[in-house]
Amino acid sequence: MTSEIIRETSDAIHNQLPDFKAEIGLILGTGLGQLAQEIEVLCEIPYQSLPHFPISTVETHSGKLLLGTLGGKSVICLQGRFHYYEGYSMQEVTFPVRVLHSLGVKHLFVSNAAGGLNPEFNISDLMIIEDHIALFLPESPLRGKNPASFGPRFPDMSQPYNLQLISQAKDILKAMGLPAHSGIYTSVQGPQLETKAEYRLLRQLGTDAVGMSTIPEVIVARQLGMNVFACSVITDLCFPETLKEAKFEEILAAAAQAEPYLTKLFIGLIQQIS
Ligand code: HPA
Repeated sequence: MTSEIIRETSDAIHNQLPDFKAEIGLILGTGLGQLAQEIEVLCEIPYQSLPHFPISTVETHSGKLLLGTLGGKSVICLQGRFHYYEGYSMQEVTFPVRVLHSLGVKHLFVSNAAGGLNPEFNISDLMIIEDHIALFLPESPLRGKNPASFGPRFPDMSQPYNLQLISQAKDILKAMGLPAHSGIYTSVQGPQLETKAEYRLLRQLGTDAVGMSTIPEVIVARQLGMNVFACSVITDLCFPETLKEAKFEEILAAAAQAEPYLTKLFIGLIQQIS
């Protein structure tokens, strides 16, 4: 992937709505695409109409880019993301983040569906991501050539998630009367879910929630200097002693139940961005 390719895609988006400029980007996770309904959409661009853009293969991801207004601010929303387990390379998974950056996005909001390992969590709870473990991913999205426009070769990860947004998010959740959970998200390759032994191991390592996305995009966003906020929806409980068979429909139902709260949280945070 080169800077020219990124530029061709971002130009194609820019040309659809030349006067539009957004500093806020959103990436919506599995079963969490409904947040997009709250966006006053000015322009909708299917991924397949864009040069170089990967095409989403997961049915629950609708695969389009929305340009519009949310919480009084201009936003660009990726409704549908790319996962490593779909067969994409880590560069492909994170390509949209580089395109968002090229379009002028400075604040990135990410949601995902995740399994809960912290015993205090319940199904459909939200967990603000405070830190992450990327070590189970097959490779870094930054592996390979690193042109100067990509950012530093060895980007810092001492605080990938913006502390001010984390603190504002806790306040918003409390004001909604919801538990203000925060914790460590670990990303695995998938697509199979984890065994009891794997959940036990992940918990021993400090994981509060486990999923198959988000971290690659966050790493690239941080390399590019973006502010990042990410939130997991706990769609299933992964306690080894009481583990039940996970059903994809139940995961989607749990995501749907939490979605109105996640939407309020994102809108509340976006309203506070100056
Ligand atoms: N593991 C990995 N990814 C997930 C899970 C899980 O238990 N739940 C939702 N996404």
